[in-house]
Amino acid sequence: MDDKLKVVAISGSLRQDSYNKKALRIVARFATEEGMNIEEIDLKRLVLPIYDADIESLGFPVSVENIRKIVQSSDVILIASPEYNHSVTGALKNAIDWLSTKINILDGKTAVIFGASTGPFGTLRSQMHLRQILAALNVFVLPQPQVYIRFAKEAFDDDDNLVDTKLQNQLKELIVKSFGLARLTRSLITK
Ligand SMILES: Cc1cc2nc3c(=O)[nH]c(=O)nc-3n(C[C@H](O)[C@H](O)[C@H](O)COP(=O)(O)O)c2cc1C
Repeated sequence: MDDKLKVVAISGSLRQDSYNKKALRIVARFATEEGMNIEEIDLKRLVLPIYDADIESLGFPVSVENIRKIVQSSDVILIASPEYNHSVTGALKNAIDWLSTKINILDGKTAVIFGASTGPFGTLRSQMHLRQILAALNVFVLPQPQVYIRFAKEAFDDDDNLVDTKLQNQLKELIVKSFGLARLTRSLITK
């Protein structure tokens, strides 16, 4: 089987100067170094409607069709999300809801989850929720390492690298091991 994996990247933050977008760019760079092509899904540009079964009953809107098509053709989804009120952002949850409905497009994919927040817990609580949501959709997520970017205002240098090189190395380890997981699970699922 082809060693290459199709990778998509989603930020749960819509904010232009988002710390999570910065973290996503670091991880995307590592993924590129591993020889993968990355496609970015920009939730701000997509402007998905809020999930509504009445809208769905009329057929998926174009924006929903677009995100479902991109994710369907991927093996790995990189997800960087802030923590909003101890959970994932509404924008991310809404996108996941649209991906899960009718046919669960996420079934059997591998997700790489991490996040940055300005608080001392660095998305610990939102990542726990995200794991729970993804488990409901049969998405594989590596148990460890778990990467929490705390006090995000001070975490990045002028070149948008992480000041803490240990954290940067953890992200590298996370991506390399998650690609290993994705290759394994892909061969289990692809009959
Ligand atoms: C509605 C809302 C709720 C938030 N709740 C939390 C929280 O529960 N824990 C936390 O660490 N930070 C919380 N924050 C602060 C975010 O961590 C911070 O805004 C972060 O920079 C957002 O990520 P971004 O830079 O990628 O947009 C919250 C921010 C907003 C707007």
